[in-house]
Amino acid sequence: MNMVDLIVKKRDGHALTPEEVSYIVEAYVKDAIPDYQMSAFLMAVFFQGMSEEETVALTRTMMDSGDQMDLSAIKGVVVDKHSTGGVGDTTTLVLAPWLAACGIPVAKMSGRGLGHTGGTIDKMESIPGFRVELTMEEFVSNVNKIGLALAGQTGSIAPADKKIYALRDVTGTVEQKALIASSIMSKKLASGAGAILLDVKVGSGAFMKNLEDGIALAKSMVDIGNAMGRETKAILSSMDQPLGKAVGNSLEVMEAIKVLQGEEKGDLYYLCLELAKEMMLLSLADMTSKKAEEILLDRLESGKAHDKFLEFVALQGGDVEKLREGLPVGSYRKRLTAENDGYVAKVEASAVGLAAMHLGAGRETKDSIIDLGAGLRIWKRIGDPVAKGELLAELYTNDEDKLLEARNLLKDAFVIEKNQKTTSPLLLGKVDRNGVELWDEDHYRT
Ligand code: URA
Ligand code: CA
Repeated sequence: MNMVDLIVKKRDGHALTPEEVSYIVEAYVKDAIPDYQMSAFLMAVFFQGMSEEETVALTRTMMDSGDQMDLSAIKGVVVDKHSTGGVGDTTTLVLAPWLAACGIPVAKMSGRGLGHTGGTIDKMESIPGFRVELTMEEFVSNVNKIGLALAGQTGSIAPADKKIYALRDVTGTVEQKALIASSIMSKKLASGAGAILLDVKVGSGAFMKNLEDGIALAKSMVDIGNAMGRETKAILSSMDQPLGKAVGNSLEVMEAIKVLQGEEKGDLYYLCLELAKEMMLLSLADMTSKKAEEILLDRLESGKAHDKFLEFVALQGGDVEKLREGLPVGSYRKRLTAENDGYVAKVEASAVGLAAMHLGAGRETKDSIIDLGAGLRIWKRIGDPVAKGELLAELYTNDEDKLLEARNLLKDAFVIEKNQKTTSPLLLGKVDRNGVELWDEDHYRT
């Protein structure tokens, strides 16, 4: 096969055969195709898109480029969850112990944060002593013992995706549905779960800015998963503002604990409840939505979900006493207050994420060292009334020089207007093998 011909074929809007797609990926991984040709090909895909058949072939080849985790020694159906990326998205820290407390096995491989979004592995490492490097035997045995294990994603999962993603990142070709869908699904499928739940974010802080694009991305991933023999569903949720009140590693761990203690009932809690219900339905054949909710609420109210979190921390070497005392947060602090009366019209999630990164909570490059105590607490949400001088957010860092610029970045994230706007609902809908179901505004309150 000739790469120039394949670039031209895609450029002119024709679909490649599965063999042609596999050839490109395999040759690129072996350095038999140079970056400049692969860049041209990715840009052609960016403009022309890919058919479902091409997307499945791309996913399969990237999945097959590395190791496939074998989770068959785990009792029960392991359901994996993946979020397409958000700010203040602490769902994994809440869901993992909550589901384990309901008897659902959780075998979670997670990544580190990059840019303005955080990673579960970094968050858990803000607990002193917590180990994320587990052997495969330890990982499986911990799940069988307490129902839950978390490990860092190894470089051996879908290395082709790693190499292609790095090129997409510097060629303006990240935000393309087939490329995002195959990238995420190749890693999820290689990680060995029996079923997959996707949390597809829609809004100004997400890859997909509107519902139509979110639905298309969700459909693409759901189709890939089901085509590859794993039951896959997606929830569509809003990312117009940070999900929780905390952004930053230690701050998010402590917020997750509050949710697990039943003390925090905001958007983070409601999204977790919805995702947890769907994961129970995916894991247990005889489950109903109503029964799942009853069990979940019981595990929260009885304290069992919180106990499971502490058991999990202890088993992976974390210092439970230090956690009970509260993790340290940055010693330099600043407050952001409202400059005029009105209503919050915007809390731009990507700008909040950038401010948190600037404080030290995230990585500017792969090799940046993060400040685990850095971050933000956001006290107002879209639609809230505010008076001049009222507290909007607090900033934390261990590097005093970072405060002023971070405050300015954060200030730009908040827009306050005279009139109250209607807010977009948190939960937008669901996509499964049967199609799309869109929800009305108060879905999660009913
Ligand atoms: N996350 C991924 O893993 N891949 C993408 O392409 C986008 C987000
Ligand atoms: Ca309703």
